[in-house]
Amino acid sequence: MTTRILGIESSCDETAAAVVADGVKILSSVVASQVDVHRKYGGVVPELASREHLRQIAPVVREAIAQAHLALADVDAIGVTQGPGLVGSLLVGLTYGKVLALALNKPLIAVNHLEGHVHAVLLEAHSAGRVPKLPAVCLIVSGGHTLLYRVETARNSGNGAVRFSYARIGGTRDDAAGEAYDKVAKMLALGYPGGPVVDKLASHGNPSAVRFGPTKIRGNPYDFSFSGIKTAVLYYLRKRPELQAEVDARQRSLANGDRSADALRSLSSPATLDLIASFQRAVVEDLVKRTLSASEQFAAQSVLVSGGVAANRELRQRFEEEGRKRGLDVFFPSRPLSTDNAAMIAAAAFAKFSAGERADASLNAAPNFPLGVPSPTV
Ligand code: KG4
Ligand code: ZN
Repeated sequence: MTTRILGIESSCDETAAAVVADGVKILSSVVASQVDVHRKYGGVVPELASREHLRQIAPVVREAIAQAHLALADVDAIGVTQGPGLVGSLLVGLTYGKVLALALNKPLIAVNHLEGHVHAVLLEAHSAGRVPKLPAVCLIVSGGHTLLYRVETARNSGNGAVRFSYARIGGTRDDAAGEAYDKVAKMLALGYPGGPVVDKLASHGNPSAVRFGPTKIRGNPYDFSFSGIKTAVLYYLRKRPELQAEVDARQRSLANGDRSADALRSLSSPATLDLIASFQRAVVEDLVKRTLSASEQFAAQSVLVSGGVAANRELRQRFEEEGRKRGLDVFFPSRPLSTDNAAMIAAAAFAKFSAGERADASLNAAPNFPLGVPSPTV
């Protein structure tokens, strides 16, 4: 018998709903992005995000059900993101899911957003018949998070269902990698969000032109820090007034609504493109190096990379090259499943549903919801 789960996600600035069958087959996945609302502020404004979620949640859920060719009563359970995220945003999706579960008399499953990102990779790998061997090391790298986990499974002694367990290996001490992309893009007037444009422009510059020293972190070698490199870009720009003139020209282009990567590139000198390429190289190398050394220490059989920054082409390429060298399988979600979506929430909910986990009407948003326990060996 097929189990169809309606997933609902509203932790940050995407209102999303999806229906996934048996945790592996996406019947629908609808994402309403709020990027246009937040663009002029250069980042997510929490109050505006909650208001947009309120406007979008009902039509987005309706659309996900329609695209799956189902009626609401046909779903077997409802999975909602409980956290981490913005409390006002989380509450919209969570309350909507709770009310639906109550009205339809369906089980409600609470999902950790970070676990959703892990399942974005697993979902697609399973449906492509390429099942990652566990234990795996998973890098979750987005605008809000840069985290490393060890992922394992164990059989539930009760019903034999697979249970996933997570041990946190490391995380960022300051900015998330996507946040650093967005802040550097803001300094350089490349628009918001910055990641996709930096990704495109980086391929036109020399990544070895500007040398950023390696990030030194005391203590846990699997922690990250990106604020140093962000500040280095700022100082580099301050010392070069000729690059600042270009920043002003791009700012005018953005203000006129021309945000295309081609337009921004045509307003960028080789020196700016070199700076962009060098920034990206430094971030990517740091992410790849720490993740792969964690995979060695924790005897990972595969590496999973998920979150908005996992869409980055250089990051994918470098992980694949290094994975091949080491005989390690590296898995990424497709680009639509790299960024926030609800298919990953439905997939994570399916594993919990099968293991018998249920939430009740007391479920509340958990803005700082951690995933897993600290790894005992670091
Ligand atoms: O996962 P996501 O949609 O939302 C968060 O939970 O943050 O990730 C959005 C982040 C933004 O910081 C954006 O600049 C970054 O992912 N991003 C990228 C790329 N596409 C999106 N960063 C680097 N390269 C990309 N291609
Ligand atoms: Zn996310």
